Amino acid sequence: MALETHSSTATTDSPDPVPAPAELDRQKLPRHVAIIMDGNGRWAQRQGMPRIEGHRRGANTVREIVTAAAELGIEQLTLYCLSSENWKRPAAELSFLMFLLEKYLIEERKEIVRQKLRFSTIGLTNQLPEAIRDEIQETKTQTEQFEGMRLCLALNYGGRQEIVNAVQKLAHDVQDGRLDPDAIDETMISSSLDTSGMPDPDLVIRTAGEMRFSNFLLWQISYSELWVTEKHWPEFSRGDFHQALGDFSRRNRRFGGLNK
Ligand code: IPE
Ligand code: IPE
Ligand code: MG
Repeated sequence: MALETHSSTATTDSPDPVPAPAELDRQKLPRHVAIIMDGNGRWAQRQGMPRIEGHRRGANTVREIVTAAAELGIEQLTLYCLSSENWKRPAAELSFLMFLLEKYLIEERKEIVRQKLRFSTIGLTNQLPEAIRDEIQETKTQTEQFEGMRLCLALNYGGRQEIVNAVQKLAHDVQDGRLDPDAIDETMISSSLDTSGMPDPDLVIRTAGEMRFSNFLLWQISYSELWVTEKHWPEFSRGDFHQALGDFSRRNRRFGGLNK
């Protein structure tokens, strides 16, 4: 996997880095971009603000990047919003994250519908508060007929948990005589995951500099390209997103083969 880092001293006030969308080669854009939106807390603390302020600002970045991706005709954008490990955080931070998620789902529905995005989630959403589950369902229902970009939120998501669930499901099928164990192949495993029917991510972006996947889409990222920026999620701009896409378009993806 190609690994690239970008240290940047740019702030939210800086002009966007190149390239502008017109310079992006549309033929070489990823079909599916997945983003580990990290660094909200550190960004806020560096500004002398409480961590939750970083989450609030991070929600603004979500709006900006969702629109930017849809405008470029990206097929799917998956955003890591809450991991299955994030429950280790203090109760006050978790309750703010739940508040923010509910608010985002309510306030953005109009815009999601206007842009004709197809809304999906992955992760154990049945463990989220009922009010959030209701808002998720409402947005799914209102957008299921759309053919625009799929906006997929990873909520209470963990890659290992997702694989465990898939294995249990297949094991039950074998036990009940519906499935021959020898028939289990990669396609069947892929379609037993939450991401069934979705393309694997071509590009994974991680903000705030950490060089790890933090239990994100473990099965699906086997041949994803990784792009890491030092910028924290609240300061990640449309220009940074375009820069990631531009770098992706110049990558040589070999999938174990030789150069074309
Ligand atoms: C990402 O920012 C948002 C979530 C994980 C919910 P963090 O909250 O992880 O911010 P840092 O990494 O501590 O700065
Ligand atoms: C990954 O960020 C999860 C999300 C962005 C939702 P974390 O902040 O939880 O990851 P670690 O703890 O640094 O690995
Ligand atoms: Mg973090």
